[in-house]
Amino acid sequence: MKAIDIKGLTKTYGQRTVVNQLNLTIEEGEFFALLGSNGAGKTTTIKMLSCLLAPSSGQATILGYDLGQAEEKIKSQINLSPQETAVAPKLSVKENLLLIARLYGYSKKEAEEKAAEMMTTFDLTERQNDRAKALSGGIQRKLSIAMALISQPKILFLDEPTLGLDVRARHELWKTIEALKGKTTLILTTHYLEEAEALADRICIMNKGKIQILGSAQEIIKASGQKNFEEAFLAYTEEGELA
Ligand SMILES: Nc1ncnc2c1ncn2[C@@H]1O[C@H](COP(=O)(O)OP(=O)(O)OP(=O)(O)O)[C@@H](O)[C@H]1O
Ligand SMILES: [Mg+2]
Repeated sequence: MKAIDIKGLTKTYGQRTVVNQLNLTIEEGEFFALLGSNGAGKTTTIKMLSCLLAPSSGQATILGYDLGQAEEKIKSQINLSPQETAVAPKLSVKENLLLIARLYGYSKKEAEEKAAEMMTTFDLTERQNDRAKALSGGIQRKLSIAMALISQPKILFLDEPTLGLDVRARHELWKTIEALKGKTTLILTTHYLEEAEALADRICIMNKGKIQILGSAQEIIKASGQKNFEEAFLAYTEEGELA
């Protein structure tokens, strides 16, 4: 089944069209990266697909459900790790995880089990009693992703999960994300091109709300006539050139 099927998805603010007639299909289990310069429309797209923002026009089905008609069904099967990390700063690592598990309807016992499982997966067990605000940015990001995974979503949106992380923390998080590959449909946005190149099955480059090109990193390099992915990216995001 298709995880996501988008036809003509558009978002306008006043006179400005920030997501412009997006057509896109993402298969279940695919690792999909959405790239583009600041303001290209990546977060807006992700917000529309995760029911946080109403599209101005166009259609999308998420796991077969129509966006705007089956919001509860969709929301129960997806999750989002937002661009601004969403952890409760005064709660501990474990309390944050328990809170989310209970919100998703797990019993107390199940919530304890889920929290323990996530802390093992994300290497957070030792920090379980530390308040979230006392964690470094990288570990907060890990916690944020662990929280997004607790409901076992079929689709996980990761909006710049490695923003501001040092090289080591970034590489560690890549490993964690890579382990999800194939099990969960992943939609990633990032400004670290090597991240998308290494992890994603397919990459979509957006510019000013429009899709410029879609394919594997190799296909994109080939189509651009450039010698590496970074140069291909620059070519497709250059203003006015290839739009
Ligand atoms: N609530 C809003 N009202 C008006 N314009 C908005 C609103 N939210 C976003 N925009 C505009 O939509 C455009 C796309 O923003 P979006 O956040 O989707 O970009 P992005 O690709 O995620 O960028 P970044 O890489 O910086 O996160 C930007 O020009 C932004 O200013
Ligand atoms: Mg963004």
